[in-house]
Amino acid sequence: MTPKVLEQIHRPQEQVHNTKVKREPLVERIVGGFFELEFPRQSGSYHPDAYSYTSGRACLGVILDSLKVKKVYLPFYCCDALLQPLRRRNIAFEYYGLNEKLEFDPSIALQSGEVILYINYFGLKMNFIRLLSDRYGSQLIIDNTHAFFETAQERENYWSFNSARKFFGVPDGAYLYASGPVETATIRNSEMQYTHLVERILGNQAKAYKHYLDSETNITDSPYQMSLLSERILSGIDYGFVKSCRLENFEFFQRHLADINRLQFDGDGETIPFCYPLLLDTEIDKQQLFQNHIYIPTYWPNILQDDTPDFLLERQFAQRLLPLPIDHRYNGDACEHVLKVLKSILAGQAS
Ligand SMILES: Cc1ncc(COP(=O)(O)O)c(C=O)c1O
Repeated sequence: MTPKVLEQIHRPQEQVHNTKVKREPLVERIVGGFFELEFPRQSGSYHPDAYSYTSGRACLGVILDSLKVKKVYLPFYCCDALLQPLRRRNIAFEYYGLNEKLEFDPSIALQSGEVILYINYFGLKMNFIRLLSDRYGSQLIIDNTHAFFETAQERENYWSFNSARKFFGVPDGAYLYASGPVETATIRNSEMQYTHLVERILGNQAKAYKHYLDSETNITDSPYQMSLLSERILSGIDYGFVKSCRLENFEFFQRHLADINRLQFDGDGETIPFCYPLLLDTEIDKQQLFQNHIYIPTYWPNILQDDTPDFLLERQFAQRLLPLPIDHRYNGDACEHVLKVLKSILAGQAS
């Protein structure tokens, strides 16, 4: 096939405008031949009214461009991926500190061209976000990376975005709720890596992990639209099931660990959390968890490398907070197992 003909076949599906209008991708118009991967068709997108992009950082870049931002205030306790779109645009930024409730004093006064970004930590900060929304309006950007199920409610006029990889087995994908016009037209991401997702299904954990690390370095902040693969996977998810699993597992850990958890939650019973964030008095050696095949990440290792004398509390969060998994792959049995291993590690530490 000549390149010219190939171009005719591929261009229309790749060169898409990021409107909210539903499109039928060209790939579905191919008739006959072998079958592609099968996915159930269930509810469709959970965010039909949002713009879709390839990553959370891509969404942030689109917001910064749309608002012509000159300076961003953001929490020191954050993932370094968030800085990518700022650095790419040479946008000034300043960190603010958090208190033990993962909140801050909203006395920062914003000038025009300035915005403030806050992370909906572990998906549990909606009450505080409502307060911030009243204070900062459309100069507020909410990072809902930990809160996939939050949508834009009518009374809220802030900007927000999430990231699907943090909740589901997808190679890329994020949704942006815009509080103003978003003019960027994008190309659909077609460079995503998905081997880690398949290797994990096949039970090849070590191999899958290597591919996962590769795929994470491949995540881009360019304003591409979400890949077709992620779009298809996300439209087949039973979101009701996912939500109830998360809530049940969260409640299980809260029943058993609230008395040793230094974090307190003022959940409204509707917010769907990202994990059970267990903040301990001391750091435990995560190797002991890994040896039991319990993989608990650190949020966020990058802040431990920055030895600014302020932000001691943030470093303690990074060292002492265990984000226990509560997702829909797990039920009561898995949670019991995690609890048992954790309690034995803590008992060993105390003795
Ligand atoms: C709190 C937070 N915000 C934003 C991001 C960036 O999201 P993405 O990786 O989809 O760009 C991450 C992690 O990568 C994160 O942990």
